[in-house]
Amino acid sequence: MSNILETTLGPLVLKNPVMVASGTFGYGLEYSDVMDISVIGGISVKGISLAPRPGNPPPRMCETPSGMLNSIGLANVGFDVFVNDMMPRLRDAKATVIANAYGTSADEFAELCRKFDDVEGIAAIEVNISCPNVKSGGIHFGVSGKPAAEVTRAVRKATRLPVMVKLSPEANDIKDVARAIEDAGADSVSLINTFRGMSIDVNTRKPRLGVGFGGLSGPAIRPLAVRMVYEVARAVTIPVVGMGGITCLRDALEFFLAGASAIQVGTANFSNPMVAIEIIDALEKYCIEKNIRPSDLVGKVEMG
Ligand code: SIN
Repeated sequence: MSNILETTLGPLVLKNPVMVASGTFGYGLEYSDVMDISVIGGISVKGISLAPRPGNPPPRMCETPSGMLNSIGLANVGFDVFVNDMMPRLRDAKATVIANAYGTSADEFAELCRKFDDVEGIAAIEVNISCPNVKSGGIHFGVSGKPAAEVTRAVRKATRLPVMVKLSPEANDIKDVARAIEDAGADSVSLINTFRGMSIDVNTRKPRLGVGFGGLSGPAIRPLAVRMVYEVARAVTIPVVGMGGITCLRDALEFFLAGASAIQVGTANFSNPMVAIEIIDALEKYCIEKNIRPSDLVGKVEMG
């Protein structure tokens, strides 16, 4: 077999099915001195908006049992700086760039994605309708089918790039939202973003995050993510990208078996930036040993 790990997500062809999740790997460049970032299946960069955003007041991250909370608030450099300063270096590094897009209205999403359409070297757009840390946009679009479809339709019209929509686990019914997004023209869905959580310092009696609440990620949410991937993969015909607490090959295999065609590694990058590359190596060895491709595993859980 030539490239045993090559993976197709609708119109998007990846060299392997292991991506890094938005918000957990910066813009990719931060790691380019210590590793070959072109090896990663796809780098979903920090969520980008039309204008730069300062994000929420600190503290914006804290560790929790088997996970972490973040309340970053989509702090980012904005479209112009990303495209002019970072994209040339990402192209030089031959990174597979997934632009994670954030807007506060369907029109703003469309404008941003129309602009991404003209940028050389962007492989796909991941539409963020699931961030729990912003006052408008984000999760407000992702909790039910109607607004999720409205944003997806606007983005679909605005770009020829492959469109992946990132789902919130806090949707009223994540299967309905995924179906509405598929009907509106998305090429794939990725799930799950974080769950809203809270942690309190019992000495100061204050929340441990500056804005009180934040999104919970990491191994603590993995069983919830696997269940949702299983359900969504049976509800739609477009490919599903699974994420939520993946730390090693075993965790990745769990998501493939549940129905994910590709995966994203998130929180684990903070403790081991090499984790995605380690999983790619381990997955390649596993597939060679078993004489299979990752796609042979997709949805193959045996429910008994
Ligand atoms: C954030 O920037 O607040 C996290 C990103 C997200 O949850 O989508």
